[in-house]
Amino acid sequence: MQGNSMQPSSQATVMNFLNEVAGRFPTAISLAAGRPTERFFDRLQPSALLRALSRYEQYASGRGTKRDVMASLLQYGRTAGMIEELISAQLSRDEGVVATPDRLIVTAGCQEALALCLAALCPEPGDVALVCNPTYIGATGAADASGVAIVALPGNDDDLAASVAHTAGELRRQGRTARVLYVIPDFDNPTGRVIDEAQRVALLAVCAQQRIVVLEDNPYGMFRYDGQPVPPMAALDSAGSVIYLSTYSKTLCPALRVGSLTLPQTLFGDRTARMQLFEELTQRKSFLTVNTSQIAQAIVAGLLLEQDCSLRKWVQPAVDLYRDNRDTMLRQLDRVFAPLAGTIGWNRPDGGFFLSLDLPFRFDAEAVTACAVEHGVIVMPMAFFALDASQDRRIRLAFSSVDAAQIAAGVSALGAYIAQRIEQAEAAAGVAPALATAGAGSA
Ligand SMILES: Cc1ncc(COP(=O)(O)O)c(C=O)c1O
Repeated sequence: MQGNSMQPSSQATVMNFLNEVAGRFPTAISLAAGRPTERFFDRLQPSALLRALSRYEQYASGRGTKRDVMASLLQYGRTAGMIEELISAQLSRDEGVVATPDRLIVTAGCQEALALCLAALCPEPGDVALVCNPTYIGATGAADASGVAIVALPGNDDDLAASVAHTAGELRRQGRTARVLYVIPDFDNPTGRVIDEAQRVALLAVCAQQRIVVLEDNPYGMFRYDGQPVPPMAALDSAGSVIYLSTYSKTLCPALRVGSLTLPQTLFGDRTARMQLFEELTQRKSFLTVNTSQIAQAIVAGLLLEQDCSLRKWVQPAVDLYRDNRDTMLRQLDRVFAPLAGTIGWNRPDGGFFLSLDLPFRFDAEAVTACAVEHGVIVMPMAFFALDASQDRRIRLAFSSVDAAQIAAGVSALGAYIAQRIEQAEAAAGVAPALATAGAGSA
């Protein structure tokens, strides 16, 4: 794995560092946290959780005695899960992923699915997982924890299929094998980008040809604010190369720790190989978490039953809020950085929780602290998600767990910090600080 050019180099260090900054400056506005909003948590207060449990109990009692139902809730459970039928139905309805229960494992969040898949698919020392650069810290962290080597795809995301083919070839020449491609095609964490359908199809073709398993992680697909949905890679996959990872952390709440992985019908055309992989993943899970808490599964099941196995209506208020937040952030970025047009750039994501900001200077751990101390805003250096120095001049901004006033104030504060940095750089270079007033009057 290539080294990270930033100070906090490991995933755990990054998280500790950010928690520590947030703890030291509790009044600072955080545009760093990629958490779901807490605005709708009252729909999951204890009485609602109990109602969901009862709803599941009622459903399960149609299939066994009361004693069986109680045992299924309270005893050690089936490793692959007990609500896979309901999750399959929800994935088919909401995400267009045809997931049959016999191919689905209920996991302790997506994080466990990542750990299981990476370790099972990359068992040899020469096996490699390919990732975009930057990418989700949970994926690189899971690979590190399992001793799986990671290689970043070179360049930007313009031609991912060509990057995969090139990198797989390079690795072969070194006697190593690309086994897995980890991607977040919809509203990527950390960048917010979407992989378009043509690129998805091209990626699938390359991966099928090279027998690389695609780990498609889709926590944000339900959070589209504009434009037409792009089919998940799992729905476009005819070769049997995609394992689809899903989670209820963003749609329901993270504390449930319920997610799933769905294997393709065949693994590259081989049904037996898929069944063997299912067995291997299940066995690994039995030594990792034994089974996903049945109480948590039952709550998810009850909520799915209440919602007729579709969370589209459930997430609508959050979708509307996140859309408003994104728009507030984009408007404020336009306002604050107008004087710096051409110097600062950002994307306009159609969904998800994040956007990325390009800067003319390096934004590192020291900058995070300075921003928090002097300006009262905490942001995430993109370098924390990167495998090389290419992301050193970028920031990830999250708009999911803050309100409009915090977004406006946070972006203004960031603008003031950035203007100050540019002014300092220009002063050091002997240039007149013509652009140095960004952020000043824009609260
Ligand atoms: C890309 C990505 N995958 C998965 C998750 C969710 O993981 P979990 O289901 O373990 O909460 C997140 C949450 O931040 C994420 O950004």
